[in-house]
Amino acid sequence: MARALDPFLRTDLLRFTTAGSVDDGKSTLIGRLLLDCRAVYEDHLAALAADSRRLNREVTDLALLTDGLKAEREQGITIDVAYRHFATPRRRFIIADTPGHEQYTRNMATGASTASLAVILVDARQGLLTQSRRHAFISVLLGIRHLVLAVNKMDLVDWSREVFERVRSEFATFAGRLGLHDIVCIPMSALLGDNVVTLSPHMSWYEGVPLVSHLESVPVAAAEANAPFRMPVQLVLRPTEGYRGLAGQLAGGRLRAGQQVLVQPAGHRATVRSIHVGERRVTEATPPSSISVELEEDLDVGRGALLTDPDSLARVTDRARAVLLWMSSTPLSKKTWLAKLGTRSVRCTVESLDCRIDPDTLATEEPGIPGLNWIGRVSVYFHEPVACDPYAHNRTTGSFVLIDPLANDTVAAGMILEDDGHIEGLGPARTSPSPTRLLTPEDSLVSPAERCALLGQRPVTLWLTGLSGSGKSTIAKALERRLTDSGHACYVLDGDNVRRGLNRDLGFSPAERTENIRRVAEVAALMNEAGLIVITAFISPYAEDRAQAARAIGASRFAEVFVDAPLPLCEARDPKGLYRKAREGRLQEFTGVSAPYESPTAPALRLDTSACSLADCVESIVSWLEARGYLGP
Ligand code: ADX
Repeated sequence: MARALDPFLRTDLLRFTTAGSVDDGKSTLIGRLLLDCRAVYEDHLAALAADSRRLNREVTDLALLTDGLKAEREQGITIDVAYRHFATPRRRFIIADTPGHEQYTRNMATGASTASLAVILVDARQGLLTQSRRHAFISVLLGIRHLVLAVNKMDLVDWSREVFERVRSEFATFAGRLGLHDIVCIPMSALLGDNVVTLSPHMSWYEGVPLVSHLESVPVAAAEANAPFRMPVQLVLRPTEGYRGLAGQLAGGRLRAGQQVLVQPAGHRATVRSIHVGERRVTEATPPSSISVELEEDLDVGRGALLTDPDSLARVTDRARAVLLWMSSTPLSKKTWLAKLGTRSVRCTVESLDCRIDPDTLATEEPGIPGLNWIGRVSVYFHEPVACDPYAHNRTTGSFVLIDPLANDTVAAGMILEDDGHIEGLGPARTSPSPTRLLTPEDSLVSPAERCALLGQRPVTLWLTGLSGSGKSTIAKALERRLTDSGHACYVLDGDNVRRGLNRDLGFSPAERTENIRRVAEVAALMNEAGLIVITAFISPYAEDRAQAARAIGASRFAEVFVDAPLPLCEARDPKGLYRKAREGRLQEFTGVSAPYESPTAPALRLDTSACSLADCVESIVSWLEARGYLGP
């Protein structure tokens, strides 16, 4: 018992959150952490073994350890955020265990808002899911800068390095787009304990550290202490005659006796006479201490005021742009809500909806009507001025919740943005309201059927993807020749050409490649509208971008063609000498050398140009088109 408790006295604390989907082993992982770090009491262990026996589980079921509430055990899901404590000789930890079911935004927002790191679990057999991307995105929105991707259940995929690498590379791409750089991917088996506390004997190919070693060494930000001073006043204490203390929890910066502070939004200046932590008088305090501050001046300061640093003031405003996470099944409406910013409550209205953010693709879209789990950018009008900060500067003074005053129910969490509305990981804000909302589509007087009859074909986009030098352009050009010779109207869109004109402003970073593909897909969609057969030749290295292209063009008009050739062969061909340049370090972010290529998992066609002649490749595409009726009216 003593051994389990001693480390809790150490001060270095890492708060982290865990997120995952149903059945990916999150509870088991937490159970494993608690067990292997000996944060479990002997009697609890005995009860656990008994429970596992009762439920006929083969191994002691670690998930039962964390599924502490009886209701959870019976339903087989975790029902709310639970906080677990454990420690190693190097650090203390608090885990916010958030469930992954339908109400995930609410739970994640609760669990992640104080965490500095998030562990996102995926089942190695399933790889990255929509939920995993959402969890990563919400973590970033909530200010988390360290992510761990735990690729769990490696025992069920034979400890396969290939499986792990596939998930890792897909996640790295997504996280890169979010602007996240500290991501660590760990292959593990939480059930068997591999790479949780100790290194796995089954994955000698893994060069990193086990999860706990990483958690022990990740830097815990002292960011709050270095931020400008902030203290929301929670209540006024008058324990004895003559003493009037403003009590609250420090949310940023340091406070010293004798220091000047400003009371916002009122704007009064004051001097700190004394600071108390409980009964004890101190000369200085840092976050997250709860303190009582006595001022020299006799000012009318009450609950809801914000004490700040006069040299670094909070913003006083009645309007703010914010990212809103809608957490209720009651949809957002024009009505008046109660906004709680720290200790302050004011009435507010959501004035305008700027855009919805698709947490899966990170695309900004038409806002629609916010309902459960909606995430987007809005403008809020507070009926009285409030003192606040951008969330990126201070997670306490930069966030708020919206409460339905009638039902007394929390319906949303908001994070205040910088004035320009920039969201970390996404592009700059569009002007509000979004310009596309003012557009009305014009329908053509010519129907698709008429165009088919006119051209004697059905439009389609053959999306050729593959490494540089795999043969995309060669096949595209030969196919264009072949189809034209047999009387079809077709056109090739080729990377090297499109990048000289339409896309000459784009380079090769992940975000620029995404934009390259987005524009090309829009052009292909227009050409298909006009009735043409389109052949595209772009590396298009990201699976997500290709999926987005398929959505823009329409699944029935989109065929992914994987032009496959082994990297060494492409490199030996090196038609433009770019591989050599990349190897010599004279060309950055070159696909296959220093930038990833995500192979299609289920292409419509796969052409192996190391084994198949050009003529055969072309004919197999033509046969494919014929078999599906694209080459007739
Ligand atoms: S994509 O990745 O955005 O789809 P795209 O197919 O348009 O790429 O352009 C690839 C072409 O750009 C290559 O054929 C090559 O000639 C040229 N190129 C120049 N720099 C790079 C680079 N860093 N990575 C890949 N291709 C490059």
